[in-house]
Amino acid sequence: MRHANKIEASPPQYVGGGGATIAAAAAAAREASRMPEAGVREKFVEDHARLRGKAEVCECIALRILRGDEDLGSALLLKGEEIRDHLVRHMDWEERELLPLLRQSGRSDIASGLVTRHTRHREHFEGNLLSLHNTKTQPIELTKHIVEFLRQLECDMQREEEDVLGALNPGPGRNAG
Ligand SMILES: [Fe+2]
Repeated sequence: MRHANKIEASPPQYVGGGGATIAAAAAAAREASRMPEAGVREKFVEDHARLRGKAEVCECIALRILRGDEDLGSALLLKGEEIRDHLVRHMDWEERELLPLLRQSGRSDIASGLVTRHTRHREHFEGNLLSLHNTKTQPIELTKHIVEFLRQLECDMQREEEDVLGALNPGPGRNAG
């Protein structure tokens, strides 16, 4: 007797039910593997600081190019790609760890704002901004775009910090203010 045949013989309408059970189990596993709130808050702040450090270096290079040091074009794009890759990982992490916390805290408004800003960043990346493979844009125009992008990134991180740090529990021994 082969029990496996029973599964194969199941009518299609039961597939959805099984899928729902698997989805619920996966959601429970994700829930169990999430970082604690204080850990999310700490990593959020640290990651923004690391992104800022990279963005400052990138902007310095860009401003030198705009003052005439065009030999720095490759250095700018290498740094830009580094920021892009870091930001992609950071946004993925925020969406995985931070969004559920915000929604559980009843702050879907803040979660929506975060998603909107992330969508805007991803659209920039699809346009090959911050990429060595961008051969369509003139170097000076690309440099100006990068400066604009970095300033927008800083504004967005400040806004995120105001929203998120106000909404998350600061953890034991720390004051919200
Ligand atoms: Fe962020």
